[in-house]
Amino acid sequence: MIYLDHAASSHPKPDVVMDAMMGFLRNIGANPGRSGHRMSAAAARIVFEARESVARLLGVADSRRVIFTPNATVAVNLALFGLLKQGDHVVTTSVEHNAVARPLARLSAERAVTVTAVQTDGEGLVDPSSIRAGLTDRTRLVVVAHASNVLGTVQPLAEIKDVLGTVPLLVDAAQTAGATPIDVDALGADLLAFTGHKALLGPQGTGGLVLSSKIELSPLVYGGTGSRSESDLQPDFLPDRFESGTSNTPGIAGLGAACSYLLARGIEAQHREAMERFGRFLQKIRRIPDLVLYGREGTDARLALASFNLRGRSPSDVGRMLDERYGIMVRVGLHCAPWAHKRIGTFPSGTIRIAAGASTSDGDLDRAAEALAEIARS
Ligand SMILES: Cc1ncc(COP(=O)(O)O)c(C=O)c1O
Repeated sequence: MIYLDHAASSHPKPDVVMDAMMGFLRNIGANPGRSGHRMSAAAARIVFEARESVARLLGVADSRRVIFTPNATVAVNLALFGLLKQGDHVVTTSVEHNAVARPLARLSAERAVTVTAVQTDGEGLVDPSSIRAGLTDRTRLVVVAHASNVLGTVQPLAEIKDVLGTVPLLVDAAQTAGATPIDVDALGADLLAFTGHKALLGPQGTGGLVLSSKIELSPLVYGGTGSRSESDLQPDFLPDRFESGTSNTPGIAGLGAACSYLLARGIEAQHREAMERFGRFLQKIRRIPDLVLYGREGTDARLALASFNLRGRSPSDVGRMLDERYGIMVRVGLHCAPWAHKRIGTFPSGTIRIAAGASTSDGDLDRAAEALAEIARS
């Protein structure tokens, strides 16, 4: 089996991730922050250390500003529903994922929120000046996916932040956290949503929202936090304000171990190597007649993922052939991002997407390029 669907979920996870999860389940298992005994304290310690590791990896000085959620989608919902009020205006881009598009559609219906989706260029890159042009005196938030999950194009966040003035920026870093260096504090991102199960190499069911000290949010969920239990009111301090109910502690243990693993390996070096490898793959598939590749020409400002089609064949047929004949797992269709496909003209059938990951070798990518060439010839 060759797994090339890392943008949907990375696989396999490093051994240290599985060991941390099993270690928690076998030896601790107690509820963090709920009871005074030593096993509960050990569970709370694991959550604390994981929060510290995520904060270090994402360049956040105060780890209390890292709020754990089950995934990036819940983090984006927390940010949007927690911040936006009746009649607010949002600027976003034309390649956002449904994790952004759908809550915004709901907020349009529920709170008369208006949305300007700025057109990217054909490679999926947004021009910061068009974001500036979209701002009005009602603009409460700008939302940008750090990288498109369809095209892999990485947006110029620092330049975007520069044109926003006092309007807060929400970054959807679902595809980039763990794949490219991110420094939330240096960037001055006000909110950043991440997911644990993609390039961060953690388990599914983990993720979070990083919150700057300037942002006031309402919680999405209210309830037990193990703190201030005498009060009917939600605690007003971080992270408890946004973390009601028992946490996914085994998952958080795995996420913490994954972040320590990535910190030790160095994200910058890994990204460079991944892009060199992927650049060679892109060169090979560009030579396949009838293969139409979307997105950026080169390897700068992109991730190790590519969307393409074979002329005259549906993406789902190609995906099935890759799986059944070659044991190669890819994703086909719209990838939960119909806006991006409308932008590049591949709606509604979508594309075939190959996404490399930490475990992907040159051999895996060579095999995929050969398989695609054979399918194109057949
Ligand atoms: C750009 C982008 N945003 C958000 C998400 C949602 O992530 P999750 O499914 O972990 O909530 C994804 C997942 O594919 C994504 O690629």
